[in-house]
Amino acid sequence: MRSLTFSLSASLAGLLQICYGALIGEMSNENHGLKPKFNWEEIEFVHAFGDSYSFVQGTRGEANFSFIGDALHFAFTPEQLLSNEIVARNTSSDGSNWLEFLTGCFSGLPSKCKKQLWDFSFAGADIDANILPRHSSDIIPLVDQVKQWISFAADIIPHPHGKTLTTWWIGINDTGDTVTNATITDFDAFWNVEMTSYFDAVQAATDRGLRTHLFINVPPEERTPASLGNPTKAALLKTHIDEFNTALASHISAFEAVNPGVTVMTFDAHSWFNMILDNPQHFGFTNTTGFCTCPEPEGFFWFNTAHPTERVHELLAKTIEAHLIDQS
Ligand SMILES: *[C@@H]1O[C@H](CO)[C@@H](O)[C@H](O)[C@H]1NC(C)=O
Ligand SMILES: *[C@@H]1O[C@H](CO)[C@@H](O)[C@H](O)[C@H]1NC(C)=O
Ligand SMILES: *[C@@H]1O[C@H](CO)[C@@H](O)[C@H](O)[C@H]1NC(C)=O
Ligand SMILES: *[C@@H]1O[C@H](CO)[C@@H](O)[C@H](O)[C@H]1NC(C)=O
Ligand SMILES: *[C@@H]1O[C@H](CO)[C@@H](O)[C@H](O)[C@H]1NC(C)=O
Repeated sequence: MRSLTFSLSASLAGLLQICYGALIGEMSNENHGLKPKFNWEEIEFVHAFGDSYSFVQGTRGEANFSFIGDALHFAFTPEQLLSNEIVARNTSSDGSNWLEFLTGCFSGLPSKCKKQLWDFSFAGADIDANILPRHSSDIIPLVDQVKQWISFAADIIPHPHGKTLTTWWIGINDTGDTVTNATITDFDAFWNVEMTSYFDAVQAATDRGLRTHLFINVPPEERTPASLGNPTKAALLKTHIDEFNTALASHISAFEAVNPGVTVMTFDAHSWFNMILDNPQHFGFTNTTGFCTCPEPEGFFWFNTAHPTERVHELLAKTIEAHLIDQS
């Protein structure tokens, strides 16, 4: 009898605690000064900005570069945006990419997906063409991806609080492009200029309603087949990437500090790539130094000299999803 009473009151206390927790949660949600509660299960819209590691092909995009438009075809109408379809398996891996695995939005109209993928990433993008020149005139750098989103997409694609996640993955080309840049003498100052531009864009997107962010840092590109044959270049690239990621981390903290109502999450792709590359067998990879630009790159980590295979994207998406569930 005694123990029954005890367990009853214990579970009652537990129940009360759950209700109390829920009540506090509700109150926080209504308080605009506090962070919206993140729950991956409730996310219905994923807006993405980035480069070739993130872009998906759209029927109105530039082949092998974008979902919609390019720098020379920057504007689009609501009808063009809403009728634009994702072309399956046309990414930098020639398969599906991490955003497609993460959202399950692999092809067709994004609006038909349970988690809609709206991907403004552009292959070959740096952060800002005023800082580093575009590889070609069609490329839309990150800051312009955000301008494009604000001008032509923000009013069209829903991005309600609590149901929207924005992903940011940029810097792979910036760190690569600066390896041989002799005019930059103070790299600490240079990365800060880059980050200032990057976070001006993040702030603009935030002010326009994107309030839940996932930032991904630059992977160890010095371990790509493109870098492996050149130890001098690889060492310099490694230094640049470490500097970039350090500057990124401090700017993420600074951004978070001045935006208390915003949810900020990070994923350390740098550590994750190194972990896989250091334990390839464990993940089913038999070749991490060469590449196979082929339909079935079985066992290969790299698809070409600079981009990972579809299998890497799939594993990455699983890890990021677990991380997002963890944050929920
Ligand atoms: C998509 O990929 C397939 C296979 O690689 C290719 O034949 C097709 O041209 C690509 N489509 C676009 C729009 O790039
Ligand atoms: C796009 O990439 C695929 C596979 O990498 C290639 O076969 C195709 O020719 C490319 N399309 C264009 C227009 O460059
Ligand atoms: C950067 O972008 C270009 C496309 O313009 C691509 O060919 C290149 O491999 C990228 N660089 C790195 C380091 O990934
Ligand atoms: C090197 O960096 C400087 C400083 O941002 C930039 O103005 C210049 O265009 C870059 N050069 C190359 C070849 O990328
Ligand atoms: C990895 O693949 C490359 C390219 O096919 C090949 O030359 C190399 O021998 C392979 N390495 C291993 C360890 O299998």
